[in-house]
Amino acid sequence: MSQRSCLSVILAAGEGTRMKSAMPKVLHPIAGLPMVAHVVKAAEAAGATGVALVIGHGAEEMRKAAQKFAPKAETFVQEKRLGTAHAVLAAREAVSRDYDDVLVMFGDTPLIDSEALAVARQKLAEGASVVVIGFRTPNPTGYGRLIERRGKLFAIIEEKDCSEDEKKITFCNAGMMAIAGKQALQLLEKVGNNNAKGEFYLTDIVEIAGAQGLAVVATEASFENALGINNRVELAEAERVWQARRRREAMLAGVTLIAPETVYFSHDTEIGADTVVEPDVWFGPGVKIASSAKIHAFSHIEGATIASNADVGPFARLRPGADLRAKAKVGNFCEVKQATIEEGAKVNHLTYIGDARVGAAANIGAGTITCNYDGFSKFFTDIGEGAFVGSNSSLVAPVTIGKGGYVASGSVITESVPDDALAFGRARQKTLPGKGKELRERFASAAVARKKAAE
Ligand code: UD1
Ligand code: CA
Repeated sequence: MSQRSCLSVILAAGEGTRMKSAMPKVLHPIAGLPMVAHVVKAAEAAGATGVALVIGHGAEEMRKAAQKFAPKAETFVQEKRLGTAHAVLAAREAVSRDYDDVLVMFGDTPLIDSEALAVARQKLAEGASVVVIGFRTPNPTGYGRLIERRGKLFAIIEEKDCSEDEKKITFCNAGMMAIAGKQALQLLEKVGNNNAKGEFYLTDIVEIAGAQGLAVVATEASFENALGINNRVELAEAERVWQARRRREAMLAGVTLIAPETVYFSHDTEIGADTVVEPDVWFGPGVKIASSAKIHAFSHIEGATIASNADVGPFARLRPGADLRAKAKVGNFCEVKQATIEEGAKVNHLTYIGDARVGAAANIGAGTITCNYDGFSKFFTDIGEGAFVGSNSSLVAPVTIGKGGYVASGSVITESVPDDALAFGRARQKTLPGKGKELRERFASAAVARKKAAE
């Protein structure tokens, strides 16, 4: 089957008014990725070599977004929304290009499983001309019903065109179809619009192909494959299903999730075996975690790389460019951005490290801040291997703390500290014996005098 070429035509011209959004519906994200990009991914995983996106509403925004999530996709504009068959024909130029297989998919059905698509393509390879992906549900309202006769798929009838008896059928059209490339164009061109909605239905090609004596079959997939998103409630439902799948996949791959339902993955999160993730952790895009790391509760992590045996949180925030090497530790209420925390270095409490390198085995005291921004530009802080930065220090970048350098607590460091030097960036302490008692007595008698004067 791998030798067969495959075009995926993704229909996404609909307006999506029920999202009540300024953004085209199919660009709303699931796990941080536009829902239509999930559809493209599934098509590619099922072997699609060409992607044709049919757009209409918000065409400019769609084109721009597509350049990011599917740079090789061609876009076709469907000027008027006259139905799903009409929409596929908007991509006529691609469809007529002699692909072996044509997969028709919907941009608003993001949970489609590449396995279901691969099964449909397999049926084409075995000689079918049209393959419909079906599912069974006790609540079929709204879906096209699959009408079988003598064990064969005979037709698909849309809800609005169903008789009372047909409405009782629970075998439904998930929407996706696989069509033999050789037949696709002639079948689509024969579709008319004589139905309750006056639309050109893609589903009509089932009957048309059957009448031509071509083989038409239905496969069965799970309901989730058909989950179309029309409003934000369904968007959240799709997110829920996606997250549940991903958590399961992570756990089966050796990741411990103590409370899986409270951990949120991004579409591209990578996480190694024997890593433990405590409850209430959020992964934004671009996170790569090696094996045997520990992510403690309530951490918020995006664009970060975490090496094995690193320890993060609780309550840590890792922002893009955070690069934690083996056994590094970033503890509670610490924020790290665009900074490398080298092997075994510790940033344990209440600290901001931005635009910096913290050398191996260095220790950063509580409340340390890299002052990396002057309101205009960002500057770099370099902290050498084995350095010690005392608590509550401000490191005013650009600045270097040398290897083994020692910064006294409460310092404001504006000049670089050489290797193994000790730097004080604070006023010296003065201690006056007995002066505390004297001061207390003076304040007490002043208070008494004020009270008397007020009487
Ligand atoms: C479609 C199927 C139905 C199936 C259901 C599953 C048809 C005729 N019906 O119905 O059998 O059970 O999906 O969800 O195919 N689109 C365009 N241009 C158009 C029309 C639609 O781009 O002119 C796009 C829409 O944006 C949407 C997709 O095609 O992403 C499906 O269209 P929609 O109108 O939602 O079809 P359904 O009525 O849900
Ligand atoms: Ca729909």
